[in-house]
Amino acid sequence: MRRAVFPGSFDPITKGHLDIIKRASKIFDEVIVAVLINPDKKGLFTIEERVELIKKVIKDIENVRVESFHGLLVNYMKQREAQVIIKGLRAVADFEYELQMALMNKKLDPEVETVFMMTSAKYSYLSSSSIKQVVTFGGCIDELVPDEIIPDIMGKISEK
Ligand code: PNS
Repeated sequence: MRRAVFPGSFDPITKGHLDIIKRASKIFDEVIVAVLINPDKKGLFTIEERVELIKKVIKDIENVRVESFHGLLVNYMKQREAQVIIKGLRAVADFEYELQMALMNKKLDPEVETVFMMTSAKYSYLSSSSIKQVVTFGGCIDELVPDEIIPDIMGKISEK
């Protein structure tokens, strides 16, 4: 069983994330989308809400599931018997940070491999934080996040 973990904050999940998840699901037997619980960083959505949004968008992909985790990613990987971390790369700007994390994870657990997937060009400018800005100031997010979760995002913004 080749099991991969796609970790991140997912606040909220974007079309760029979903694209990576779908492509990874064709390469690995199972993909776990893992939402980091970070008590120091308050996001727009709670961890439970992020997990629910992800559940909605992955519901038709058979070999993908979502969970949250805290602490070190490599420890979570061991608990789940996963061998591969999947990361999406958008631009050169991502590289340095991602290299540092991949090398740190390798140092912590030499058994773990990080596999980078290049984002599809049409999503290369997307990030959760830019989407939050656009929607906060009344911009259109139709092309940026999966259709099923647009009402949830609009609802969250109007609560604020
Ligand atoms: O979507 P993000 O915020 O870029 O995701 C970052 C994430 C969750 C992949 C990263 O912060 C992480 O793996 N955190 C868990 C803590 C850890 O294992 N740190 C050691 C590697 S630097």
